[in-house]
Amino acid sequence: MIMLRLILAALMVLGLLAGPATAGSFTPISAEDQTTRMGRGVNIIGYDPYWQDGGKGNYEDRHFKAIKDAGFSTVRVVLFTFPHMDAQNQISETWLKKLDWVVDTALKHDLNVILDEHDFTDCSRDAAVCETKLTAVWRQIAPRYQDRSNRVIFEILNEPHDKLDAATWNALFPKVLAVIRATNPQRNVILGGTQWNSRNTLKDLKLPDNDLHLIATFHYYDPFNFTHQGASWAPPEITALKGLTWGSDAQRAQIDADFDAVKAWSDANKRPILLGEFGAYDKAPLESRIVWTDAVTRAAEKRGFAWTYWQFSSDFIVWDFANDDWNRPILGALIPDSPALSGKP
Ligand code: BGC
Repeated sequence: MIMLRLILAALMVLGLLAGPATAGSFTPISAEDQTTRMGRGVNIIGYDPYWQDGGKGNYEDRHFKAIKDAGFSTVRVVLFTFPHMDAQNQISETWLKKLDWVVDTALKHDLNVILDEHDFTDCSRDAAVCETKLTAVWRQIAPRYQDRSNRVIFEILNEPHDKLDAATWNALFPKVLAVIRATNPQRNVILGGTQWNSRNTLKDLKLPDNDLHLIATFHYYDPFNFTHQGASWAPPEITALKGLTWGSDAQRAQIDADFDAVKAWSDANKRPILLGEFGAYDKAPLESRIVWTDAVTRAAEKRGFAWTYWQFSSDFIVWDFANDDWNRPILGALIPDSPALSGKP
C-alpha cells in the first residue's frame, strides 16, 4: 500500500497523473482584492467559431500569452451556453471540454478568467425559461470549476433587460446564486442591474447582505449614438449615422459625472465594480474612438473599477486576426504603456 502511494505520488510529481496540482485549489479572496487583481481585461471568444461543434476557431494558446504580455490581467469569456444544451438541459460534453481548455489556458498564462453567461437575449424574452436554463447552466458549470483557483470568477448573466425588469431580476438572480453557492460558497460572483447592465439600475439591485463575495458590474456605451453609429443591430436611426465625432469638454465631463455616480453607489453599498463592457464600434471615426476609449478607461481606473474592454475579436476589435497583430490605436488607448506597443511597428 505504502509502495503504491509512493508510486502514485512520484507519478503526480512527474505530471503523469492528473492530481490536485492540475486541478488547482481554491482559497477565498475578498471581492475588493479580486477587483483590484482583475484590473485591466478584455472580452474574448464570444462570437468566434471556436464554440461550434467541430469548429477550431481562431484562438490559440499564443493569443492568451499575447493578452498577458500586452498588460491585461483578465479575460471575460463570453459564453452562449443554451444552444449547446440538449432537451434535458444537459450541456454538451464536447462544449464543456472546450470551456476547460479556455479556463486552463487562461490560468496557465496567469490571467483571471470571468465566465460570463451571455444568453441575455433568450433570457430576457421569457423569465421562466431563463430560470430553468440559467439554473441548469450553473448547476453544471459551478461544480466543474469549484476546485479551481480563485482567479476563476462567475458572472451570472450578461445584460438582463426586457422581461427581466427589476422585480423579476431581483427574484431570479438569488435562485441562480443559490445554485452557485451550493458548490462555491466563497467564490466571487459578478452581477449587474437590468436595462442591459445600465449603471442607472445598480440602485435597484437587492443584493443579499450576507454574501460579501459579490462584485457589481455595469456596461458603458454612452453616448450610444456615437458608440453604435453604423451598427446593424442598433435602432435604424443609429445604424444610419456616420462620421459622428466625440470629445468635447462637456462630453468628457459627462463620463466623470456618470462614473462618479457609480462610485458613490459602490462606496455606499460596499460593492466593488467591474466595468464589464465598453467600446466604440469600428465604424465610428478612429480618432474619436481613441479619445473616447482612453477617456472611459482612465475614468474607470481613477475610481478603482476593474474593466474588460469589448472586445478582443469579431467587432470593436483590439486584436486583428487578419493581420495577426494588435489593433494598435485601440490597444494604446486602453493600455498606453503596453509592452506590446514597443514591439514590431
Ligand atoms: C453583445 C454584442 C454587442 C455589444 C455591443 C454585447 O453585450 O453581446 O452583441 O456587439 O454588446 O452592442
